[in-house]
Amino acid sequence: MTDDGPSTSARGARQEIRLDGMGGLRRTHGCGEVGTGLVDQEVVVAGWVHGHRDHGGVIFADLRDRTGLLQVVFRPDASPEVHQRADELRTEFVIIARGRVMRREEGNVNPELPTGEVEVEASELRVLNSAVPPPFPIEEEAGVDESIRLRHRIHDLRRPPLQRTLEMRSRLAQVFRRSLCELGFLEIETPILAKATPEGARDFLVPSRLQPGEFYALPQSPQIMKQLFMISGFDRYFQIARCFRDEDQRADRQLEFTQVDLEMSFVGVDDVLEVLEEVTWQACKEGGGVELPRPFPRMGYAEAMARYGVDRPDTRIQLELIELTELFRTSEFRAFRGVVDGGGIVKCLPVHDADELSRGDIDRLESFVKKELGARGLAWIRVTGDGTWQSPIVKFLSDAEREAIQAASEARPGSLLFFQADSAARANAILARLRVDLGQRLGRMDGRPWDPLFVVDFPLFLSEEPGELTYMHMPFVAPMDEDLPLLDSEPERVRATHYDVVLNGVELGSGSLRNHRAEVQRRILDLLGYSKEEMEARFGFLLNALDAGAPPHGGFAFGYDRLVMVLSGAESLRDVVAFPKTQRGQDLLMDAPSPIDRDQLEELRLRIVRERKGQ
Ligand code: AMO
Ligand code: AMP
Repeated sequence: MTDDGPSTSARGARQEIRLDGMGGLRRTHGCGEVGTGLVDQEVVVAGWVHGHRDHGGVIFADLRDRTGLLQVVFRPDASPEVHQRADELRTEFVIIARGRVMRREEGNVNPELPTGEVEVEASELRVLNSAVPPPFPIEEEAGVDESIRLRHRIHDLRRPPLQRTLEMRSRLAQVFRRSLCELGFLEIETPILAKATPEGARDFLVPSRLQPGEFYALPQSPQIMKQLFMISGFDRYFQIARCFRDEDQRADRQLEFTQVDLEMSFVGVDDVLEVLEEVTWQACKEGGGVELPRPFPRMGYAEAMARYGVDRPDTRIQLELIELTELFRTSEFRAFRGVVDGGGIVKCLPVHDADELSRGDIDRLESFVKKELGARGLAWIRVTGDGTWQSPIVKFLSDAEREAIQAASEARPGSLLFFQADSAARANAILARLRVDLGQRLGRMDGRPWDPLFVVDFPLFLSEEPGELTYMHMPFVAPMDEDLPLLDSEPERVRATHYDVVLNGVELGSGSLRNHRAEVQRRILDLLGYSKEEMEARFGFLLNALDAGAPPHGGFAFGYDRLVMVLSGAESLRDVVAFPKTQRGQDLLMDAPSPIDRDQLEELRLRIVRERKGQ
């Protein structure tokens, strides 16, 4: 047996029973809508048999549809024929029933169930379909491995948490549409078969049959197309857009995902942020039942990185990083000084009142950051009750260094200091991760349930190798006006008009003002290392469009799936998408990707090259 759970035949074949048509019955209520207000009335309800039991001849069936669960009773004395059919019911059979709503007897009330005070006494039952037994219970907790859930997604989607989440998803879409339309945005679709749109991931390519040897790229986002709309004069555009990025899968990434994508003309950063705050607020309130505190605070990228080590901080966690690079520039402690000499940094995460973290915990943290995050080590200092310092590195520190660390970290008895000496990117990423893990584990949240934040003032470029620039977000982001002169002198210092919306430590979305002047766009592409020919081949149509009279414009894209994830409390995007892909990019229900026929390959003039063993 594989990990697939019991196969259909092992679980039992579909039972052969006589099936009925609807017989003219029309559903009057959802199961969850039947309450004490309907007592003595006749209703027609339909759904799946969630469970059934026979109590001395009285058959009770829990009927389930997406509105909830409802008890339907089949009594032998009421209608022998109906009772006989009820006896044939099995889990997940599909039925429609007519009956009278009755108040349950006192002892039989089920306070757990919203419909628990009533039941429907059936006078008519039609069995619309039989069903194989489900591979796992249709309950809040499926209690099985995720791969089994994904393979049997139909049953998984019947479970209440997924029903609630997809309902929320639908509601959110309505709120976005309504609030953006009220603000004057037009909903316009953009092509899926398109040209590469650089957002930093690999493209998905689609071979063309009509132009053999040529390929469409699926859009990583509608970025260029929405800029073209602004140049065409549409002024305010939005779209609930599907995006495709061939990147490694994580809990917060899918190969295809949805953005609520928008763009506006004749705006500055403040104009866009005003719209974003309004739309985010309404989406959370009406879509998720959450009232966010406003106005959303703004934090500069440099401050976020310095204090929290990430550009999407959860500022509810009451732990902050400190920087000690300068202190170790002249230190005798080789491990740290060597890193600083090589252009790296030293940062520290002080955790006060940390007695509950044992030596074993620290060792586990160290092996976690080394194994999972590529850390070189995890130096630490513990201040014991009598003020002495326990630490594998204290013997390398001079008195002056100890005093400086003490002062910067405000260490006191009970404090535990964690250190990272590494490249800025890695030291920050590791301590940021420790900060969140320890903050949650030690209960250092400040009690605010929701923490929205705008992060602003990002750099335009990253410079991983001296002299080599890459874009931080994408190549179309406009520099801040006042930094334009730096493009020629010190491009690393140019600040971008980029902004992110962060909620509870999750990047919900990002955006920027764009280069609307062709010469600035060309200059930036040039700095990024594109030759004139490459520029024309890849972005010629955009550059020509900018030459056609482009208005100043800017916009944003919400990661729609991530918003649903945060609002629903789901831990993975796979729990907010109807048919998600696994970590390995597979759809286990449809079995995709899968090989294609030789004929299809020939038609597309494609040949599969299989690597020979040993190559
Ligand atoms: P960006 O690439 O930051 O910006 O994407 C915007 C938001 O989309 C979400 N997101 C994802 N969600 C799920 N799976 C993924 N693989 C994935 N990748 C991104 C994130 C992210 O914040 N064109 C620009 C937007 C703009 O500037 O207007 C863009 O796509 O929540
Ligand atoms: P060592 O002298 O290499 O044994 O290191 C002493 C302590 O410093 C150990 O606890 C290591 O885990 C830690 N350590 C070494 N290098 C680093 C580094 N680059 N960043 C953080 N901690 C480190």
